Amino acid sequence: MPPRAPANIRPIAEILPVGPAAIRLGARLIRAGRLVALPTETVYGLGADATNDAAVAAIFAAKGRPRFNPLIVHVASAAAAWRLVRADARARALGRAFWPGPLTLVLPRRPGSPVSWLASAGLDTLAVRVPGHKAALACLRAAARPIAAPSANRSGRVSPTTAAHVAAELGARVALILDGGACRVGVESSVVDLSGPVARLLRPGGVAREAIEARIGPLAAPAGQAWARGRPKGPGMQESHYAPRLRLRLGVKTPRASEAYLAFGPVAPGVTAKSVINLSPTRDLEEAAARLFASLRALDRRRFSAIAVAPIPAHGLGLAINDRLKRAAAPRSR
Ligand code: TXA
Ligand code: MG
Repeated sequence: MPPRAPANIRPIAEILPVGPAAIRLGARLIRAGRLVALPTETVYGLGADATNDAAVAAIFAAKGRPRFNPLIVHVASAAAAWRLVRADARARALGRAFWPGPLTLVLPRRPGSPVSWLASAGLDTLAVRVPGHKAALACLRAAARPIAAPSANRSGRVSPTTAAHVAAELGARVALILDGGACRVGVESSVVDLSGPVARLLRPGGVAREAIEARIGPLAAPAGQAWARGRPKGPGMQESHYAPRLRLRLGVKTPRASEAYLAFGPVAPGVTAKSVINLSPTRDLEEAAARLFASLRALDRRRFSAIAVAPIPAHGLGLAINDRLKRAAAPRSR
């Protein structure tokens, strides 16, 4: 159990628009070991004091997340990150280029780092990120400690890009939801593993692969993530993720009449889907990423037989979009 909050802190989830008083309250709750949902430029995070074991344990419990899947630790500056992890020239170059922003770096944990071992699932590496959102940065500065924050959804479900999504999914499991409006990027950060000599892209995300490679050279594929090694990879565990309730059909140019259609670019005149949301009529991948999760939520209705999704190019943010769609379409046990 997290430590009891002071008596003057209310126990029920509350949604407050970001502003100095809300940020101060959020920081105070985090310092008291409570869970606070906060906006970032990518998706909403479920934040807690990364140095407090009980608070970090509460994140896993609220999400229903397997404890061997480590969390990202958010900090207010690159300098603060380098106090927790050992940075090499590649990490410093990426930090300079993309922080604050949608990039997470996995690096060797410094001995004596105050971050809870539970946050990194016992690994000797740590994932760190400086978020590119004013409210998140203000909260980090006010709390004056690293904040562990996974996406603020139940494990395996679609990530939230508005405060209302968080409230619908986690409701009273959090002490406070800071409302900073819709997330600008809309897909999670790119996760780059720099803990060994070969740089690996563990998760495509908000910084395009091409942009990262322009700074540090080619990125290798994941080598089977350390935390997943030797774990049962049950259906619905690692593969299926970001899952709406409805089945997804990918790469569809002509949806069925009973389906909802997630379009991209101009829609052919003959399309007869029951409902159509266009991720970007002008084929802008950044706009499509920003709309992806909210659109999946909006189309996830029982009156449709499935969600058909248009083909989306695999360059730039398209890589992250296709990754999330592939996972959302993967078979699951639920
Ligand atoms: O944009 C984002 O990254 C959002 C916002 C809230 O910052 N956060 C997020 O967290 O997406 P989460 O927990 O949903 O995803 C964290 C990813 C997972 O794939 C996890 O396995 C990986 O980062 N990860 C964390 N620590 C790691 C480590 N030490 N080694 C390898 N992978 C790690
Ligand atoms: Mg997540």
